Amino acid sequence: MAELVQRYLDQIRAEHAGVTDGALADYIPELAAVDPNGFGLSLSSADGFIYESGDSAVEFTIQSISKPLTYALALDQIGAEAVDAKIGVEPSGEAFNEISVDHTTKIPKNPMINAGAIAAVSLIPASSPDERFAVIREFYSGFAGRQLELDHDVYTSEKATGSRNRAIGYMLQSFGVLDGDPDEVLDVYYRQCSLRVTSTDLAKMGATFARGGVNPQTGRRVTGASVVKRALSVMVTCGMYDAAGDWVSAVGLPAKSGVGGGIVAVLPGQLGIGTYSPLLDEKGNSVRGVRLCRSLSEQLGLHFLTVSRDSRATLRATYKAGEGIRVYETHGDLLFSGAEQVVRRVDRERNDFDVAILDVSGVDDIDDAARALLSGMSAALRAEGKEGYLVDPDGIVIRNEPGLEAVRYRAVDDAVAAATTWRDSGLRSTH
Ligand code: DON
Repeated sequence: MAELVQRYLDQIRAEHAGVTDGALADYIPELAAVDPNGFGLSLSSADGFIYESGDSAVEFTIQSISKPLTYALALDQIGAEAVDAKIGVEPSGEAFNEISVDHTTKIPKNPMINAGAIAAVSLIPASSPDERFAVIREFYSGFAGRQLELDHDVYTSEKATGSRNRAIGYMLQSFGVLDGDPDEVLDVYYRQCSLRVTSTDLAKMGATFARGGVNPQTGRRVTGASVVKRALSVMVTCGMYDAAGDWVSAVGLPAKSGVGGGIVAVLPGQLGIGTYSPLLDEKGNSVRGVRLCRSLSEQLGLHFLTVSRDSRATLRATYKAGEGIRVYETHGDLLFSGAEQVVRRVDRERNDFDVAILDVSGVDDIDDAARALLSGMSAALRAEGKEGYLVDPDGIVIRNEPGLEAVRYRAVDDAVAAATTWRDSGLRSTH
């Protein structure tokens, strides 16, 4: 039944597959050589379950999605006070490659624009550029849960054409923000931007952020919760550059884009999302990725200012109510990620029952995404020769849908009686 969520994601991705607006980044020549049609979507739940749709295995370079990671590493290694002395946290409203510092403080306005990101690289303690890059790569790999590799062609291409970033590097040196040799710092910056990822890596990185710094698949704590809180904060305010305000209003998820075509988005405590489509808008954000994230947020109810409720502690109890009959009792507010957990749990245990009874009588509130997932459960179970009933006295899941009234009961006892009759009368064999 995890296919209920899968179908949902496939459908949302397909809605945007026809969009061909935007252009490949060509200021780094090697980026103009990629297939413009690539389109991947991956989603990781907070417990590390992965959904993938489309080109989720295609590798591309991480580019600016590296920025919140290196910023987090700097915070992790030298602390917020030392980082704040060199990089601000104010949205700049400027393009990502603006040659600028804050007028008053003379430090980069935030770590998401190139100036702040290059400054962040210089703050990672190391005795050589190679060691600094190794520490950075190790940190990113911890977020992704696998060893990330360098794309040499993209690295050399960006290095050969990076005069704008060189201008930024030397400007930062002149303001005393960079201590070392700007070219050495830039070399590490180009290398970090050229690490290869997939949309699934981004979803896993997002889930590691969502879990406060613990990679849910490997179980490894990569960094601390206070570091994550700060990194997510600047992703909210500055992650999408001069489109940040529009993004927060419409999508409402901390996020970061890269000119390689990726976007990572995070729903704290619940989800990590990774998208890939390399055609970019004039601000350097993936056109399809932005639209996809907007639809995901709208359709799954993910805006972080809407989802202020805990939707994870959803299953209160599960118990056996007779031979082959299992009851799943839910409570609290049922939102997408809570419903996803319920569906997956029922799916995982489907060999242990003939009839699953989902009791939603203790649910306070439910959104459309959760309703759609749960109302599909009976049909999905029936397709496997089983039955799925809902104890839904107030009709919060099933509201006059033709065909679904038959599986709706007012009380657990009624549903158990119906399940027993179905089981004993051999109806099972007729499905
Ligand atoms: O410094 C650059 O220009 C690139 N390595 C990264 C820029 C980038 O990804 C901007 N984001 N959308």
